[in-house]
Amino acid sequence: MDTECGSFGRAGANLLSVSAPRASFPAATIAKTVVFAAFIAVLGIFPGFYVGGSGVPIVIQNIGPPLVGAILGARRATASVLLLLALTAVGLPLLSGGRGGIAPFIGPSGGFLLGWPLSALVVGLVVERARRRVFRVLLAAIALGVLVDYTIGVPFLWAYTGDLTAAVVGSLVFVPGDIAKTVIAAAVAAVLHRALPDTLTVPASGSSTTP
Ligand code: BTN
Repeated sequence: MDTECGSFGRAGANLLSVSAPRASFPAATIAKTVVFAAFIAVLGIFPGFYVGGSGVPIVIQNIGPPLVGAILGARRATASVLLLLALTAVGLPLLSGGRGGIAPFIGPSGGFLLGWPLSALVVGLVVERARRRVFRVLLAAIALGVLVDYTIGVPFLWAYTGDLTAAVVGSLVFVPGDIAKTVIAAAVAAVLHRALPDTLTVPASGSSTTP
């Protein structure tokens, strides 16, 4: 199925491919980017929990970027996350607990937030290159994306607090929840890829589906 063709169908797609190259007909791509940015914002409806003294909340929303990376692929997912963060930065209350503005980016969670686009990008790149978008591949990709977020978030927290031990120990509290979220996200992504193969992102390597 070619969703980029919208309601024009296959015949319309053939006509469009003659008169307009795919890159100049990005309406579906823009729609996916916006819809999945909204999806990550919806995850922010769930409030964050502050455990320990790090000032970084336990949230559900942080699984959004790697999950969207696993669903949309690198470019669209990164664009989705950047859109969400840009709207947040200009003041929309899109982070957990209805927070927005610049403050979250320069607070203790700032590094984790900055890691979100990179997390989406890395997961998207892995999933785009995967021959089979099955649960275990998606699980590994999403786990890698979460790890990438930690590699920015923890050093940022260290710089913020000036205390490496506090930053590392304070971040351990997130690990059980992030493992659970990763497993659930991989299951969701696997179901979506099975139900809509090559529809939401680029076709899998070696896929016979027409792009
Ligand atoms: C914010 O809303 O201010 C950003 C929250 C970042 C939370 C980080 S992401 C990785 C780790 N897992 C969590 O549940 N919380 C932290």
